Amino acid sequence: MASVSSGLASNLSSFSNTNFLSSADLNNRQILSLFELAKQLKIGNRRIDLGNRVLGLIFKKASTRTRVSFQVAMARLGGQTVDLNPQVTQLGRGEPIKDTARVLSRYCDALAIRTFSQQEVEEYSRWSSIPVINALTDLEHPCQALADYLTIQEKFGKLKGINLSYIGDGNNVANSLMICGAILGVNVKICSPNGFEADPNIVEKAKSLSEFGSEVSICNDPSKAVKGSQVIYTDVWASMGQEEELLKRKEIFKKYKVDQGLLDLADEQVILLHCLPAHRGEEITEEALEGRNSYVFNQAENRLHIQQALLAVQLGGL
Ligand code: CP
Ligand code: NVA
Repeated sequence: MASVSSGLASNLSSFSNTNFLSSADLNNRQILSLFELAKQLKIGNRRIDLGNRVLGLIFKKASTRTRVSFQVAMARLGGQTVDLNPQVTQLGRGEPIKDTARVLSRYCDALAIRTFSQQEVEEYSRWSSIPVINALTDLEHPCQALADYLTIQEKFGKLKGINLSYIGDGNNVANSLMICGAILGVNVKICSPNGFEADPNIVEKAKSLSEFGSEVSICNDPSKAVKGSQVIYTDVWASMGQEEELLKRKEIFKKYKVDQGLLDLADEQVILLHCLPAHRGEEITEEALEGRNSYVFNQAENRLHIQQALLAVQLGGL
């Protein structure tokens, strides 16, 4: 146990006091070590007390899982969170990020930020002297991808060579799945309607980070995409901020609904993942979401364990 712990600590030491803005910020060894720590925390084999540390939450978009899992993770680490909702701070009245970030760095020990542009979290990180965590932007959702691959590793006992097919919008969740999957040796296919494919720059970035020969690809035909897949993943057709496009998107995406028929075309052990919240009857059917292949609530639970591990490392608790 002692040597496992010291191995983890040395693999993760370089991530102490650093930002987590993109799935590309962690390498293969660091992610696998975080998974080990998350699993130890999950089964109660390990307790980490950070001692009264404070995580500031700046959320410009709604959240259930991310917000609550960060709050509970900090409580379990002996710390707490403060809600820095832009509607009640001076941020909402136009105080610049460069001032806000420097002030908050004097009060808090880390910041988790959910907003629209990736540039905004990057700007916070430039002006903060404390770690900044991307809690979802329009470009990436890196905490989600960690929980997703932890769930897959728990189910299959491995990640290398697993085939994951994401069916739907080439959005923030798809982007982080591609990058994190490539680093972990997972073959990731993103299957979207024409015009809604994943950002080509992110596809190239993911390919450039590929380990163990993992493949990242883009396609348009869901029934072909899922052949041989051990994981089928979907997300909403209109992300937060795109609500007014939903009606138009419902028509364009209707062949991209994940139902039991699609799951039956995949590997016989296939699991179904969805970051949630789910829109039943749109990207996913009730039957699929509640069916035997669904791992979505294990996946949601893992948000807590992996974020607890991440915070423990970033705040120097190992
Ligand atoms: N999956 C996810 O990030 O959920 P929330 O929007 O509820 O945080
Ligand atoms: N793509 C979704 C994910 C929500 C967790 C959104 O950005 O709204």
